[in-house]
Amino acid sequence: MRSAIYPGSFDPVTTGHWDLIQRAAKLVDRLVVAVLHNPSKTPAFTVDERVEMLRELVKGLPQVEITSFHGLLVDFAKAQNAQVIVRGVRAFSDFEYEFQMALMNRKLAPDLETVFLMPKEKYSAVSSRFVREIGNMGGNLSDLVPEMLRPQIARHLRK
Ligand code: PNS
Repeated sequence: MRSAIYPGSFDPVTTGHWDLIQRAAKLVDRLVVAVLHNPSKTPAFTVDERVEMLRELVKGLPQVEITSFHGLLVDFAKAQNAQVIVRGVRAFSDFEYEFQMALMNRKLAPDLETVFLMPKEKYSAVSSRFVREIGNMGGNLSDLVPEMLRPQIARHLRK
């Protein structure tokens, strides 16, 4: 059974993340979407809220599990018996950081492969950071977050 981890902050999940989840889910038997508990960041959504929204989104995809993790990604991947880490690359500007992270993860866990997937080009400029900023100022989040979660995310960010 081939399992992959798709880790991230997902604060909140965007249309780009959702596009990537659907692509990755086609490639493996089991996809674990994992929200990082990051004590050094003050998030807009709690980990539980992010997990809940992702679960709502993937209801129709039985091979996708949603969970959260602490600590090193490679340790979490090992505990999940995953062979693959999936990361999204939207543009060249993402690449340097992703490349360094992939090489460092390979140093820590040589058998774990990082696979990069590209979301649809119309999502190239979509990021959780822009979603938070636009949402905080009451802007339109259409095409930036999955439609079924849009009212909930917009309401939360406008507070
Ligand atoms: O969505 P993000 O914030 O770009 O995701 C970054 C994430 C969660 C993939 C990365 O920060 C991570 O894996 N953190 C866990 C700690 C870890 O393993 N650090 C070493 C990375 S080489």
